[in-house]
Amino acid sequence: MRSLTFLFNALCVLSLVVTARSQSWTSQGCFNDSATNHALTTSSLLNQPHFSLDQCIAFCGSHLYSGIENGKDCYCGDTIQGGSVRISDGACNVICTGVSDVYCGGLNAIQIFLQNFPPPVVWTSIGCYTDSTSSRTIRTASYTSVNNMTVASCQSYCATGGYLYAGVEYARECYCDNTIHSPGVPASPSGCNMPCTGDPSITCGGSDRIQIFQRS
Ligand SMILES: *[C@@H]1O[C@H](CO)[C@@H](O)[C@H](O)[C@H]1NC(C)=O
Ligand SMILES: *[C@@H]1O[C@H](CO)[C@@H](O)[C@H](O)[C@H]1NC(C)=O
Repeated sequence: MRSLTFLFNALCVLSLVVTARSQSWTSQGCFNDSATNHALTTSSLLNQPHFSLDQCIAFCGSHLYSGIENGKDCYCGDTIQGGSVRISDGACNVICTGVSDVYCGGLNAIQIFLQNFPPPVVWTSIGCYTDSTSSRTIRTASYTSVNNMTVASCQSYCATGGYLYAGVEYARECYCDNTIHSPGVPASPSGCNMPCTGDPSITCGGSDRIQIFQRS
């Protein structure tokens, strides 16, 4: 009977981890907590009658950590405080008030989840390339003829589309692609000499010259 209970506990902890992973949060395990000295202190949502992990991670939003406790309490923070340390998973053994077969921490025991933030997008200049209106060097997505073009807004547009390359041209044009198409080839940097319409302190390519950035 005892080993069956243990198996049940193990399965519940496992399912909690899987649920969390699909939300981009990973369980760090069960930690000790106390009412006078909390592990996660930035904000809390307590005594929820229909509590679940999903409710807590939605509440904790952009914080690094979320923690569920005593079946019905949620805590958020960006550091684990109060000398809280990992303890046996068996201490996180109180069923969530909102999910009948899953544990939401325990009494003075908080199950802590870490949010997996995607790595920041970094763009590196790969130089000034030749381009022509009849055969665009990068071409899959674009927006052109705008009076507020900047390198950053072009990169952000291309990042949203999931593209590897972003290129600015003729002061006011932005192109995105996953391939650099021939006959486009590297050219002298001096051809990429037109101030961006949205920020004259930087250049946005030139006439038949596209300044290309590659995403890491
Ligand atoms: C956790 O337990 C340690 C001792 O193992 C104690 O020093 C610490 O204060 C406890 N922290 C919390 C938040 O309960
Ligand atoms: C640039 O201007 C257009 C409309 O003229 C606007 O829709 C867009 O949000 C602006 N972009 C930036 C980055 O300000």
